[in-house]
Amino acid sequence: MTRKLLLLPGDGIGPEAMAEVRKLISAMNERFSSGFEVEEGLVGGAAYDAHGQAISDADMAKALAADAVLFGAVGGPKWDGVPYEVRPEAGLLRLRKEMELFANLRPAICYPALAASSSLKQEVVEGLDILIVRELTGGVYFGEPKEIIDLGNGQKRGIDTQVYDTFEIERISGVAFELARTRQNKVCSMEKHNVMKSGVLWKDVVAATHKAKYSDVELTHMLADAGGMQLVRWPKQFDVIVTDNLFGDMLSDVAAMLTGSLGMLPSASLGAPDAKTGSRKALYEPVHGSAPDIAGKGLANPIAMIASFAMCLRYSFSMIAEADRLEAAVAAVLDDGQRTADIMSDGKTQLGTGAMGDAILEKF
Ligand code: NAI
Ligand code: MG
Repeated sequence: MTRKLLLLPGDGIGPEAMAEVRKLISAMNERFSSGFEVEEGLVGGAAYDAHGQAISDADMAKALAADAVLFGAVGGPKWDGVPYEVRPEAGLLRLRKEMELFANLRPAICYPALAASSSLKQEVVEGLDILIVRELTGGVYFGEPKEIIDLGNGQKRGIDTQVYDTFEIERISGVAFELARTRQNKVCSMEKHNVMKSGVLWKDVVAATHKAKYSDVELTHMLADAGGMQLVRWPKQFDVIVTDNLFGDMLSDVAAMLTGSLGMLPSASLGAPDAKTGSRKALYEPVHGSAPDIAGKGLANPIAMIASFAMCLRYSFSMIAEADRLEAAVAAVLDDGQRTADIMSDGKTQLGTGAMGDAILEKF
């Protein structure tokens, strides 16, 4: 069996982090004949510098043909002056749009070795493992009208429109329910039906989807602002949270910071299953950006990128044992007191990017 991966390292620390995943892929092919067939492409600043676009049509075609895309990071002051359509971020937006990646998965997992360094009390975060499923292609970031109009009386009006259709809510809640079945079997849906019509529809459609196809999963509803409070008060009450684009943007960032550094956080973005094969388009990327301040210095924490690859094994290839083992290898390295600079604390051993990747590979 071959598994087609496209690697898009991007710019900044993206290539440094991706190099550590490449080591893991080679090791898996050699040790377990995992059959990964790897292609490489350019995105973001790296693509702009090479050919003046944020991603070429050829690389876009490779992304559409791959079983999964691993994306590093893009952006930085070097490209501040480039035209809007070809700025580094445009590459990621084009990938999300053309691959129709409507489901963004953001886990918040607390590694035991790092529980003490959370800004919350240790008992609040220890053992935390929640998954936020954020709708990514609809809602207020895309709804029309979206404009600033001149009212002619010295005032202007800024307008964004929150729009959700039934099918969008059905498909994102379906992803959440299906993922819940592989976890603690619990979904909490968050919206604001008390003040938003789209929230009323959201709640109704989630409830109807649950009744029709997923009644074995425990479903609760929570207002999104209360959800923010509960995430900080007692996050372990949640398993899977499903929410819209805007609330998901904020709630996933809140949840992420319960558990530590940006350098630790993975994400996945999934499309609809193919009608014939059932496989989904998918892109996996760290939550962090290109970190221009440390790029090229070998200081970047590769764990977010490696944990994104673990999500890829889990969700695109159903390689559950391998994903579990990779995540356990990360935990074991942290337990040994090995740290990159961003998660360093007293008495621990500081490693660079490559040495951290090697340490994880050794435990894998
Ligand atoms: P950033 O995530 O790149 O960096 C924020 C801070 O966290 C920096 O001090 C950085 O050194 C540190 N950091 C981030 N990842 C780290 C890692 N793996 N190991 C150690 N330290 C790490 O966010 P920032 O500085 O706001 O943005 C820099 C550029 O990245 C901007 O151009 C921004 O637009 C872009 N960006 C790109 C994203 C993407 O490619 N998906 C996401 C977020 C930002
Ligand atoms: Mg955000």
